[in-house]
Amino acid sequence: MAEPNAPTEPIIEVRDLHKHYPLTQGVLFRKQVGAVKAVDGVDLDLFPGETLGIVGESGCGKSTLARMLVNLERPTRGTIRYKGEDITKLSGRALRAVRRNIQMVFQDPYTSLNPRMTVGDIIGEPYEIHPEAAPKGERRRRVQELLEVVGLDPEYVNRYPHQFSGGQRQRIGIARGLALRPEVIVADEPVSALDVSVQAQVVNLLDRLQSEFRLSYVFIAHDLSIVRHISDRVGVMYLGRIVEIGGDAEIYDHPTHPYTQALLSAVPVPDPGARAHRERIVLSGDVPSPTAIPSGCRFRTRCWKARERCALEVPELAVPAEFRLAQGPAKHDSACHFAEEKHVVPAPGAQG
Ligand SMILES: Nc1ncnc2c1ncn2[C@@H]1O[C@H](COP(=O)(O)OP(=O)(O)O)[C@@H](O)[C@H]1O
Ligand code: SF4
Ligand SMILES: [Mg+2]
Repeated sequence: MAEPNAPTEPIIEVRDLHKHYPLTQGVLFRKQVGAVKAVDGVDLDLFPGETLGIVGESGCGKSTLARMLVNLERPTRGTIRYKGEDITKLSGRALRAVRRNIQMVFQDPYTSLNPRMTVGDIIGEPYEIHPEAAPKGERRRRVQELLEVVGLDPEYVNRYPHQFSGGQRQRIGIARGLALRPEVIVADEPVSALDVSVQAQVVNLLDRLQSEFRLSYVFIAHDLSIVRHISDRVGVMYLGRIVEIGGDAEIYDHPTHPYTQALLSAVPVPDPGARAHRERIVLSGDVPSPTAIPSGCRFRTRCWKARERCALEVPELAVPAEFRLAQGPAKHDSACHFAEEKHVVPAPGAQG
């Protein structure tokens, strides 16, 4: 833990990050006719020991962002600094050293584990790529220890993925992510493919591992309800950009961006009293194609507050003018020209 009020440097700093996939036509003479702007100008910081939740509908660029963070893909433009060093330009040994420290947990434990490998080989695979991390004679013992750490029987090393349930498979994926003792884990929808009843167990496991191993997390989800429990801060992503970001209470209780408000209004509320009093904001249409991002505010084609200015001017991700002099939780970064507070999810038992 950092000392109270001590200024902390981010462990990861992302600036102006872009990933544009070329869109081509023709077979013989392939010609670029456009680009899929999957990630289109992301800025964010991850601080040591924190969990940053990233939320947005499917197709918003979350997985592309995740792959760039762990260096599985190179950005088209922009920088990712890990402890001050831009990792997007690294290669060879320097790149491998950084990769060790930033690991990924994948969304689907059914497809991300090789069915022909034993659990022991899956969890120990990172040691083949980074042999310096564990001497050969010690690897089996380490793998068994990792199984124990994620709540599985160390005797399972010789079993195969199909012998496990979804939740157990995701524990195996997490054990593999921990094998190299990374500092940062990027978890891309780690519980989305699991039964609701198992989701909380896996989230709790990640939570426990974070304090045990002093990890920093980027935790991606398409649903705001899943990340609340584990996130210190939350960034809301829409069509390749972060549109609102702030502390957990700022985003859940004082959202100022219409997209966040719409996502929150769709989160299930267990309390029937509160449910009866809340307004459901229904978004019209689907997320537009990332090959044709709307001008000005990219959310404007679905925003119920859109006005002329929204088509002309790109709103920057910053504290909106109307909150700059204010104090309190509404004062946080929100990329909207007409940002305002709207309490979407009433406090439990509230009458409204
Ligand atoms: N390798 C690729 N080539 C072309 N388009 C891609 C590629 N990977 C992702 N995309 C597109 O980029 C957009 C964002 O995808 P993705 O990052 O998977 O979003 P999310 O994880 O939020 O659902 C989607 O429109 C997707 O089809
Ligand atoms: S800038 Fe305009 S279109 Fe965009 S979110 Fe704000 S009100 Fe809606
Ligand atoms: Mg995804």
